[in-house]
Amino acid sequence: MNSRPVREALPGPSGTEALFAQGRLILGDCLEVLSRLDHARFDLAYLDPPFNTGRSFGARQGEGERARGEAAYADNWGGLDGFLSMLEPRLAKLAPLMTAQGSIWIHLDHRGVHDAKLLADRLLGRDAFMGEVIWIPGNGSRRRKAPSVTHQTLLIYATTGAMHWHADDPILREPYADTSLRMHFAETDADGRHFRERTIAGKTYRYYADVGRQLGSVWSDCPAMRANTPLISEATGYPTQKPEKLLERILRAASNPDSFVLDPMCGSGTTAAVAARLGRQFVAIDQSELAFETAKKRLMANSVSSLR
Ligand SMILES: C[S@@+](CC[C@H](N)C(=O)[O-])C[C@H]1O[C@@H](n2cnc3c(N)ncnc32)[C@H](O)[C@@H]1O
Repeated sequence: MNSRPVREALPGPSGTEALFAQGRLILGDCLEVLSRLDHARFDLAYLDPPFNTGRSFGARQGEGERARGEAAYADNWGGLDGFLSMLEPRLAKLAPLMTAQGSIWIHLDHRGVHDAKLLADRLLGRDAFMGEVIWIPGNGSRRRKAPSVTHQTLLIYATTGAMHWHADDPILREPYADTSLRMHFAETDADGRHFRERTIAGKTYRYYADVGRQLGSVWSDCPAMRANTPLISEATGYPTQKPEKLLERILRAASNPDSFVLDPMCGSGTTAAVAARLGRQFVAIDQSELAFETAKKRLMANSVSSLR
């Protein structure tokens, strides 16, 4: 639980801030902003940094993968070592801000995730590593000179070795395979629900077909913006925006309705928008003016009531 509300823990605005009924949106380098949050405690931090692509990103305007609008952020660190030097102090700032069962999710791709894992093990502790999620955005791959890359990785850490995890939330369920349904779920209860029973160590467990099985660690059902046109309604045009479905799963699985959620590099504000919709409190930070304006507009459009 949080010892005191986050907005009280902030000694006051520096840079630009937008105060919403359910949280704060702050323009600034998260290294500096996180230093001012020393009394805040979060049940979940989702860190989606640049991926060390060596490029600069602009807002997406119109059709086409590289359609460029206003500058969003630069992702050029002079190589992997430079990227890790940027990440290290910011990641280090997160650990003391987490509650006893708080978890830190670090979202990267093949370019930085392996070195970042070693970095996070060193900073947060090897025993703090709780697992990883392989996210398949569904954009496909045009890489031809080396094996294609169609996934990104989320590393999950909890410094005490324990985290909030709502394993029974339907968002962590997936349908059983057809063959499994045909072979194993032959019985039907009085309500017409198909089930199977298994006896393990003398105890009999009943599994219902309509509940589904526990979701695995490869998530392919949260398509990225460009992979699925129906998502256009949530697309802000901000580059590398993540789908709300992905954040909803993370938030519902790893935080509670009264939790404070932190996104130190929030981009278009996906985490904040989902947190507000789910009734969580949020602090969202980004150093890009375009990100700040995009997230602010999005939160206001989503009826996250503003106190100002
Ligand atoms: C991959 S994008 C985040 C996208 C976001 N998850 C979304 O759904 O829109 C990375 C963001 O990190 C921000 N960023 C990079 N360095 C930062 C820093 N030191 N402090 C705050 N934000 C930073 C960039 O401006 C960019 O918006």
